[in-house]
Amino acid sequence: MLESGRITLKEYESAQKGDIFDRNEDEIRAGRIGSMLGVAEPEKINRLQRIAVEESRLHIPLLIGCDVIHGFNTVFPTPLAESCCFDDELFEQTATVSAKEARAAGINWIFAPMIDISRDARWGRIAESMGQDTFLAQRYAERKVKGYQGDDLSSKEKIACCAKHFLAYGACEGGKDYNSVDMSFSKLYDVYLPPFKNAIDAGVASVMTSFNDINGVPVTTNKRLLKSLLREDLGFEGVVVSDASAIEETVNHGYSANSLEAAKNALDAGVDVDMISRSYIDFLEELLKQKRIKIEDIDNAVRNVLRLKIALGLFDNPYCDEKELAAISCKKEHLNLAKKSALHSTVLLKNNGVLPINKNKFKNILLIGELGAKISENYGCWAFYGKDEYAVTLKSALEKEGVNYAECYGVKKDFDEQEFKAAAANADLIIATFGENSSMSGEAHSYADISLSKPQKKAVRYLKNSKIPFISVLYNGRPMCIPELDEDSDAVIEAWQLGTKAGEALADIIFGRFNPYGKLTTNFPYKSGECPSYYNHMSTGRPASSNSAPWTSKYDDGRVKPVYSFGQGLSYTDFEYSNLKLEKQKNFVKVSVKVANVGKVDGHETVQLYIHDKFASKVRPVRELKGYKKVFLKRGESKKIEFDLPYDNLGFYNENLEYVVEKGEFEVFVGTDSLCTYKAEFTL
Ligand code: BGC
Repeated sequence: MLESGRITLKEYESAQKGDIFDRNEDEIRAGRIGSMLGVAEPEKINRLQRIAVEESRLHIPLLIGCDVIHGFNTVFPTPLAESCCFDDELFEQTATVSAKEARAAGINWIFAPMIDISRDARWGRIAESMGQDTFLAQRYAERKVKGYQGDDLSSKEKIACCAKHFLAYGACEGGKDYNSVDMSFSKLYDVYLPPFKNAIDAGVASVMTSFNDINGVPVTTNKRLLKSLLREDLGFEGVVVSDASAIEETVNHGYSANSLEAAKNALDAGVDVDMISRSYIDFLEELLKQKRIKIEDIDNAVRNVLRLKIALGLFDNPYCDEKELAAISCKKEHLNLAKKSALHSTVLLKNNGVLPINKNKFKNILLIGELGAKISENYGCWAFYGKDEYAVTLKSALEKEGVNYAECYGVKKDFDEQEFKAAAANADLIIATFGENSSMSGEAHSYADISLSKPQKKAVRYLKNSKIPFISVLYNGRPMCIPELDEDSDAVIEAWQLGTKAGEALADIIFGRFNPYGKLTTNFPYKSGECPSYYNHMSTGRPASSNSAPWTSKYDDGRVKPVYSFGQGLSYTDFEYSNLKLEKQKNFVKVSVKVANVGKVDGHETVQLYIHDKFASKVRPVRELKGYKKVFLKRGESKKIEFDLPYDNLGFYNENLEYVVEKGEFEVFVGTDSLCTYKAEFTL
């Protein structure tokens, strides 16, 4: 059983009064808890391990699990933000540092990477994902597992990780958290499954089941998904853990008649660890006595967990060095990486030339808005352990550049006209923050309306009327509907929640010390009602060519194109693509293209390769990402970029769930974003 170490409010109040409570300690002593979550202090973890090892009957050390989703003491950009760097090395490096810090705290198991494909921006957990593309998620999954786990889990710098949430949690209906999923198995296999296969092939130690049901069967009690697919087809041999209380919740789903049946159904499906619900600890013994479950199934589950504990070296040494965390936490190289990942995750969405700011031209710059002034807004969801003393807000970074600050409005705080008038009286340029608070995305934070709040819309109107040029800096966990920012601002920077070094990174970009190049990994729809909006949607019989094209697939009050599309992101320089060539080889097509930096400054570009299967026995997406390469080009420099596009990557699952690569014509698009039109064709 996996128990939560998070305490209730009542327990907290009693601890404040000096009371000691040892609910979990007694349970560990009695051998009823085999793993914990929500404890992250080395001394406390060692105390719990000591009880398990020295005072329990079987002396088995504990798994100490934790949601280290985007860093521990050093906070990196949220996964959705980080995905925008399209940099496999960076994905691995941030995981490596997160593993080091967390393991030093005594944690040995983390509940990441989250590799749910998320196409609906209303879903708050899109912030924890790497967006809407399967190909990118596959690379991300592989590198995260490598970074967290390395080759040896017993190393004090590595940690067991957990691919979650198996399966299709990101496809919850209407973007409403915990909601149902109903979809064809071929779509499940094409879109949602592949990242899990990559994580498993990379050796991921555990997999977490998702809260949702798929086609009427909760995943946590779904034999077809957990036994046939995960264990048999994908060959997963590690630990399967339920999500928090998910076993018990199959009763709410109306699938299990009661908690006892829930325990039986989950064990039958192959769940090894019950997170929090207590169904296993309370009912497995009884079920065994009733001969309704087999001891072999319990043995198997126990064996899977023990194998992990052995691999982690816990039987040799269950304790952490209590001084280690303080020695390595937020050390210089970790903070440098936090800054680098923040720089590389930022996406420049619009720029009429105001950026980078020329200090000779603008002498009186004003920052407004609540979001740039609070450390908590740097962090985003699941960043409980960030060390505030190292965090840099946009406000503190810009003040060093001589920029003034006045709050004037917040996400929910009304726009203060008087404050704005006074503060902006002499301003010749305004930097205004917009978006949502950190607490508005993540688990259980779905929103039906993802446009700017009323106070923020009012701020945009005032800014526009003031005639002072303004740069919008967006803080958000999810894509938002921001047509007014795109129309009215002079520049728009997508700053997401960039972690510990958010402010420093943004200041470097704003003043041109770093040339941004991040690319979106989700669409930004025009209106909330357009969700889900994703670039790789299926070809319809009536594609819409314009907002006014009658009888076509579109919203009359919406827009055919999102405000910003997948893959989009600007630079302070310009890139030109030429010489696109395809050469067919035995097992792949060699794609080559010349990319030239034709602008005025050096910069990175993410060269993107998309395909379109023109005709197939099953309708195919209008575009599919099949390759990306990050390249650095000095001003005036050009390079030949090559991709090997394996024929094996061109297929899909048919209705019999066979993976097929069909002969036919394929278009290959290469360029700077998912809207690129530069293409060549080949026939397979
Ligand atoms: C979330 C998981 C998380 C778990 C443990 C659940 O509510 O869905 O992603 O790992 O809690 O905190």
